[in-house]
Amino acid sequence: MPRYAHVTGWGMAVPEKVLTNSDLANLVDTSNEWIVERTGIRERHIADDHETTASLATDAAIKALEMANLDPSDVDLIIVSTSSPEHIFPATACLVQDRIGASKAGAFDLSAACTGFIFALNMAAQAIRTGEMENILVIGAETLSRLVNWKDRNTCILFGDGAGAFVLQPSDIEGGVLSAVMRSDGSGGDLLSLPAGGSRFPTSTATIADGLHYIHMSGREVFRFATRVMAQATQEAVQKANLQMDDVKLIIPHQANQRIIEAAARQLEISMERVQVNVASYGNTSTASIPIATCEAITAGRLQAGDRVVFVGFGAGLTWGAAVVQWSGPILEKRKRYLPPSYRAWAKVRSLLNRLVRRIEGILWGRLE
Ligand code: ACO
Repeated sequence: MPRYAHVTGWGMAVPEKVLTNSDLANLVDTSNEWIVERTGIRERHIADDHETTASLATDAAIKALEMANLDPSDVDLIIVSTSSPEHIFPATACLVQDRIGASKAGAFDLSAACTGFIFALNMAAQAIRTGEMENILVIGAETLSRLVNWKDRNTCILFGDGAGAFVLQPSDIEGGVLSAVMRSDGSGGDLLSLPAGGSRFPTSTATIADGLHYIHMSGREVFRFATRVMAQATQEAVQKANLQMDDVKLIIPHQANQRIIEAAARQLEISMERVQVNVASYGNTSTASIPIATCEAITAGRLQAGDRVVFVGFGAGLTWGAAVVQWSGPILEKRKRYLPPSYRAWAKVRSLLNRLVRRIEGILWGRLE
């Protein structure tokens, strides 16, 4: 019997702090009018000192688990797609694993910039379809505000922070992730990059002096690339799912720029009514933008069980891709009601105990030597 990978839970988290275009005009030489006209962005959420990529990812994950009615200890795998991980290592996914108490989950980060959530969704769907795994958390989380140069008006106006998460589970009912396309072109890697802090340019006073620890972007070229690939990837994914564009209820694109989204809709010859757009309120939250827009589409009643939706994105790498999903909604057949938010406290105790055991082991091994 074929197994299908369904999205059974979803959740989002954004920082409370909001930075408007007018606030930005006090930081750099820009204006609300320019930003709105060229990008469609009006405001974005920015992480406060106590918020990080892992904390936002954890908040979104807990909501998604609650929606799916899933005990964190039943999660098999956590994939965090991010370009602003807490550290080069350990993976942010491992920090989330510890914070939600997903005691038997493997966890890793996926780096494909704004396209990452689509790549992660596809990887998770494949793992479920093969029968290898049952419950997978896919999270897109970013705090790019920590990586932008707040003196560079070309980039600092674009990005916002946030996280979104899906739970994927198997079912023999047809639906879920129907198809996906994943593409990349490393020859355009220099168009959008964060050059320093890795092994090529380890952080040094020179890299800091040259601002290589900030996001660097050739905006116009990224814009041209984006308008070329968005429609193309959407059409490929729809074709791969043996569907026509008319079979698709909603397109949920990566929220980078209103003009890029409108250009894609024009190329696809679909009305903007069929496109979910929230870039005005969040800016570009990179890999978190698609799951955040999905949560909002569901809340607004624009995406319901049975509807077919296309997720499509592009980003640094260069990467781009799309996925067609037949929306499912939660499969809440379990009698017991799990309350994942309460698991945070248990996860903390579990984490402390693990640390304590390691410390005791260290002392014992130290004595034996
Ligand atoms: N305020 C006022 N003027 C500005 C600003 C600003 N914030 N930023 C740039 N300008 C100026 C430029 O200096 C330029 O002036 P010049 O002609 O004297 O040189 C002029 O405005 C026009 O600049 P363009 O770059 O041509 O403006 P454009 O219309 O292309 O808009 C933008 C720029 C918004 C960056 C656009 O190119 C874009 O959205 N590109 C795609 C970026 C993107 O999506 N990146 C994220 C990818 S996803 C990921 O992986 C994270």
